[in-house]
Amino acid sequence: MTAAIDYDALLAPDLPPPAPGWRGFPPYNFIGGNVDAASMPVEDMIAATATALRREGTTLATYGLESGPLGYLPLRRFVADKLMQRSRLAISPEQVLITSGSNQALDLVNELFCRPGDTVIVEQFSYGGALARLRRLGVRPVGVPLDEDGMRMDLLAETLATLQAEGVKPKFIYVIPTIQNPGGSIMPEERRVELLRLSAAWGVPVFEDECYADLLWAGRRPPAIAALDEGGQVIHCGSFSKTIAPALRVGYITAPAALIARMTACKTDAGTGALEQMMLADYCRRCFDGHVNRVTVLLKEKLDAMTGALEEQFGTTAEFTPPEGGIFLWVAFPETVDAMKLAAAAAAAGIAINPGPEWSADAAPARSRIRLCFGNPSVEQIREGVARLAAICRREFGIPLRSGNIERSGPAAP
Ligand SMILES: Cc1ncc(COP(=O)(O)O)c(C=O)c1O
Repeated sequence: MTAAIDYDALLAPDLPPPAPGWRGFPPYNFIGGNVDAASMPVEDMIAATATALRREGTTLATYGLESGPLGYLPLRRFVADKLMQRSRLAISPEQVLITSGSNQALDLVNELFCRPGDTVIVEQFSYGGALARLRRLGVRPVGVPLDEDGMRMDLLAETLATLQAEGVKPKFIYVIPTIQNPGGSIMPEERRVELLRLSAAWGVPVFEDECYADLLWAGRRPPAIAALDEGGQVIHCGSFSKTIAPALRVGYITAPAALIARMTACKTDAGTGALEQMMLADYCRRCFDGHVNRVTVLLKEKLDAMTGALEEQFGTTAEFTPPEGGIFLWVAFPETVDAMKLAAAAAAAGIAINPGPEWSADAAPARSRIRLCFGNPSVEQIREGVARLAAICRREFGIPLRSGNIERSGPAAP
């Protein structure tokens, strides 16, 4: 049968390539911000949903659950309280916009500020989803190198000056200061203050993404940049994806009131999923702290399994700094390793890894780096997957020289 419509001729020219068909997760899945399946609090979530539905299920009859376009009021109250308690950020529920995942928060900020040809400052290594979104819009992400304390402020100042000399005013500075993605660093308070100083001096707002900030091994952290902000310079977003469940698709954003009003006007989905919001509000009031405490213990065990497996399998040829929280590890190999090729070879063997160049403003500095997520795989999968990855890396690049810790077991045979 000949097709009646030539869709290719009708489709808009700037679309991304079609999504590949879903074939299930690979056996060793070290990508995606997935969390631990066994610790999903299913029974408590059922109870919370039932309680909320019995109490006010009739409000499902209206868009927005009688809470208005910002999102379900009890959930906004919880977010405001949580931000005060954990990030020392004092805001009212009227300053919180519930979003469909924090990815929608990223989309709203981009929509407010960015048009093709614009420039946004990012950490040199940054969230692949944020970089992809900017590129898709024709926005140039300009990377500022990081050290163990996050984005370097001396180089940010240099970048701002260089851009000004080119006649470019960046739209915002996107940072993930508390468990940086992918590096895992936590920016100290003095550097946060310095970032605010530069932001004010150059008139460029800060967009702070705290996606992982509640998943800390020791619980200690500096205040959010937004909490230190006295000049309305910071837009701040977060998510329930990593603390509770990514499939719920619930995040939030807070910003000066005028910007929240603008974002609300751009949020055209007629409201984030109602049941998810109702369930989360009820569940989180009672269980958030306890759940997060349990999950972080488990995540730390998985991180230890991953760093242990890397040390055992790669020896000193894999370099990394174990993060103080979160769900991923940023690993550097010697420069002979091409991470894009390694990721392709690993994928063919059922191991999914994030190649560094996809998490970097410029591909070159991340050529030999990979990101490994440990939130979802079991300890056994982590150990086995890393061993298999080492075998593939050795086959493709001759690194590590042989299995096991080559440093511990003496020099390899020539
Ligand atoms: C830094 C960062 N921001 C935002 C997101 C988006 O998460 P979600 O839309 O599930 O809230 C992610 C997801 O991995 C992320 O790593």
